[in-house]
Amino acid sequence: MPDQPDLHVSTHPAVLHKLALLRDESTDPKKFRELVREISWLVGYEALADAKLEDIEVRTPLEMTEGHQLADRIGLVPILRAGLGMVDAFHELFPTAQVWHLGLFRDERTLRPVEYYNKLPDRTTVDLSLILDPMLATGGSATAAIEVLKDWGASRIKLVNLIAAPEGVKAVSDAHPDVPIYTASLDRSLNDVGYIQPGLGDAGDRQFGTGSP
Ligand code: PRP
Ligand code: URA
Repeated sequence: MPDQPDLHVSTHPAVLHKLALLRDESTDPKKFRELVREISWLVGYEALADAKLEDIEVRTPLEMTEGHQLADRIGLVPILRAGLGMVDAFHELFPTAQVWHLGLFRDERTLRPVEYYNKLPDRTTVDLSLILDPMLATGGSATAAIEVLKDWGASRIKLVNLIAAPEGVKAVSDAHPDVPIYTASLDRSLNDVGYIQPGLGDAGDRQFGTGSP
């Protein structure tokens, strides 16, 4: 068990500004989706700071010069449904990334993850896997996703969230200390039905307009 989780919490003013809008209960689904995308871009920028590069030569209109291109094959693994809203931002950062959807929902009675969609091929096709899910609550879904990816043969895995609870950070880093966690916010705690406090409510429902009125 690690002494300290490998946790990276954004402190960028643009992230903090957008987070307050994201949490606001009066933010409608359209604006909410825009904010998920914008914050994902900013957190993704931080999460990918150590992506591998290779040197290339580039001809400018004036001369040849040295340049770089990404050397990692990156796999984006959005956890359905809520992780879908993070994909576009990561694709803007890394247009060649593969997307491998993973369907997991949290049984609201047991708070345990249930897998319902997984079309990963037999062997891994990427060098770096980024699990995308706005919410890290108990950590059950993230831990299950990491196990799926490790069974697939993935060796470098990062977890990218927008809001994390300390309980989820502990669960993931206890089970998978090799997986760094990037998040826009580390919130206070979970409530007695497993929701993050202060949180933002149900990230899937708020993106897709499916919450109770
Ligand atoms: C939410 C969220 C995570 C999970 C987090 O998904 O997007 O996947 O809960 O909770 P945990 O850390 O306790 O596992 P949910 O199950 O509500 O599914 P949805 O995205 O389809 O709404
Ligand atoms: N899933 C969510 O969408 N929100 C929470 O607060 C916890 C789990």
